[in-house]
Amino acid sequence: MRQSRAPSSSVDIFAGRGFRRSTSAARLTRRSLLGGAAALAAGLGGTRPTSAAGDAVPFGAAVAYGNFRDDADYRNALLEHCDLIMPMNELKFAQVHPEPGRWNFEPADAIVDFALRNGRTSRGHAHVWWGATPDWVEAIGSEKEAEAALVEHIETVQDRYRGRLLGWDVVNEVIANDPETEGALRDTVWLDRLGPRHIPLAFQAASQADPDARLVLNDYDLEFAGRRYDLRREIALGIVRQLLDANIPVHGVGIQAHLYVGRTIDRDALLAFHKALDEMGVSLLVTELDVINWESAPDAQSQDRAAGALVSDLLEGVFAWKAPELVVAWGLTDRYSWIEDVQPRPDGAPGRPLPLDRDMKPKPWLRTLKHRLSAG
Ligand code: G3I
Repeated sequence: MRQSRAPSSSVDIFAGRGFRRSTSAARLTRRSLLGGAAALAAGLGGTRPTSAAGDAVPFGAAVAYGNFRDDADYRNALLEHCDLIMPMNELKFAQVHPEPGRWNFEPADAIVDFALRNGRTSRGHAHVWWGATPDWVEAIGSEKEAEAALVEHIETVQDRYRGRLLGWDVVNEVIANDPETEGALRDTVWLDRLGPRHIPLAFQAASQADPDARLVLNDYDLEFAGRRYDLRREIALGIVRQLLDANIPVHGVGIQAHLYVGRTIDRDALLAFHKALDEMGVSLLVTELDVINWESAPDAQSQDRAAGALVSDLLEGVFAWKAPELVVAWGLTDRYSWIEDVQPRPDGAPGRPLPLDRDMKPKPWLRTLKHRLSAG
């Protein structure tokens, strides 16, 4: 049976069946100590990110393995423009753990190794996400089994990458799409089997597996003006507060920043959100920046002007309180973007969602962005 939902923006993430500590904590602690020593010796201890290019705020991009593997121009562009290069899909549950006991780390390894070999950093996305749940997890019937699967998954993946990734999107998109009508949390297999406590459980497992990793709650639609977005921001703050009250580490909130031409960035709300996080000792990250544009004229200049205005508004709102921890674009070049597959322009004109065009030429808004990031 589904969990009963809290109305609108309130949710007790420890509600219901009680929060139990992971039974494998002791085993991990020993592994963690050994791994931690190894990471320190290798000089890879997880610290706050610094910029390879000397920018005060690191800039990066997420890349899908196939494009990364097959396109040398793309790899060169990543090195030219990014401080951080991260796997877009390859560390999602279904990709990395498609069957019980079967792990597929090679594609993620290739991207992470490329980043580190070239003096860049990387980060992990994402342990818990409704959009990447393998069939075998969907088939789990009992609470006990679901907890064991979630904890084993996070421990194994987090432990494997300890010292190599700055941090992780531990939970991604757990907030309901529209909290006013759906309750605070999204209806997922994890919510159904474990209740809201799957959130603290995930953070706790991640923290035990890699105490140095920056652990992030990541979500979309946290940037805009309107009641739905206010509620979503409130829920994010509520989750963070409850985790911290329970002494469960959470270090950042990622605003995905899939921006839409036609929506208004709420700069004041972003300031207030950032301030509230900062007062709890939690950072703000921009984690999936790109621009969905159905509205401006189709020519390149109009599209880029609309995107540039939105990105400037976002930066103004985010930086109004202080600099974010990092900014990551969801892809780097218009050559490869999920938006063309999922939300293309209705007029059929090619979209221009990312900082580089299809020929790897930077848009004017990349210069604006870099300039703002370098000012810190
Ligand atoms: O790798 C295969 C390739 O071998 C095959 O030929 C091709 C045929 O369609 O598919 C390729 O896999 C696709 C993969 O992207 C790599 O491009 C999958 O079908 C496709 O489902 C997958 O979509 C990703 C989507 O998440 C679902 O995992 C998008 O790239 C990725 O941008 C998107 O990212 C999400 C974030 O995780 C969370 N926030 C929203 C964001 C956009 O939806």
